[in-house]
Amino acid sequence: ADSFLFKFKGYHFGREELDIGFIENLDDFVIRESDVFIITYPKSGTSWFQQLLSLIYFEEHRKGIGNLETVDRVPFFEYNFRKMDFVERPSPRLFATHLPYYLVPRGLKNKKAKIIYIYRNPKDVMCSYFHFSKNVTLQVTSSFEEFMEQFLEGKVLGSLWFDHIKGWYEHKSLFNIQFLMYEEMKKDLRGSVLKVCKFLGKELSEEDLDAVVRQATFENMKNDPRANYDDKLKTCFGIQKKGHFFRKGTIGDWKNHMTAEQNEKFDKIFQTEMKDIPLKFIWDMNEE
Ligand code: A3P
Repeated sequence: ADSFLFKFKGYHFGREELDIGFIENLDDFVIRESDVFIITYPKSGTSWFQQLLSLIYFEEHRKGIGNLETVDRVPFFEYNFRKMDFVERPSPRLFATHLPYYLVPRGLKNKKAKIIYIYRNPKDVMCSYFHFSKNVTLQVTSSFEEFMEQFLEGKVLGSLWFDHIKGWYEHKSLFNIQFLMYEEMKKDLRGSVLKVCKFLGKELSEEDLDAVVRQATFENMKNDPRANYDDKLKTCFGIQKKGHFFRKGTIGDWKNHMTAEQNEKFDKIFQTEMKDIPLKFIWDMNEE
């Protein structure tokens, strides 16, 4: 499993598609005021939000004109598998990244551009990640038990979930950042889109808003070739997948995975690690 990872400044990158020269010089990457970054820990709704941003910013995407894919409009920053020239890219540049707060370009720390941090309850993140590792990527893991250990030790792409979210939350005053919860998006997609549009200074007509929301539901994304990662994973990484990228997209799937004992262990760690972080979490679909 370890050969899949590349450790740099205490953070685990995925080795595949990583341009070492690029990450060594991240600090100096010139940020524009119009840049927008989606920041996530893996499996927290990155692709969902890439689709949303793409729909919000590009009329063609919203109207289904042309065939540019979501990842072409909102590329990954540190895994530039399309080998795009980010410096030449026209504004507004939209990016998705899993970077920890201390590795992002200096320009972001000067509040120059906007950041949206999407987070999801970590038990569901862990379960989603387990399936992703097992079925979609090359990282081989044998059991859920074993994966949980790896996850809690941060021996995965993205390193430790707690470090990622705490780092971003504790340093939020340095950035122009909006926190948004996966579960909030799930329960009220329209309201979440409105909130994001307000943050981004984007005004959409009712009709456009409807079009955005409609094309960002789980079912529609699953069937949208522009958004679906299954083929891309195969063509870009040569990965033979057994499962699908759009797996379930629900809240509380951890209940189908974790034993009472595992849950207790997780809760204990969560309570200790997160005691000073007042972020709200939703663990169950029926929870308000
Ligand atoms: P599950 O494995 O729980 O289904 P990321 O894009 O950060 O890798 O996150 C992937 C997770 O987001 C997967 O979770 C995936 O199904 C879910 N997801 C993707 N699009 C979604 C959508 N439109 N609505 C809800 N969940 C979505």
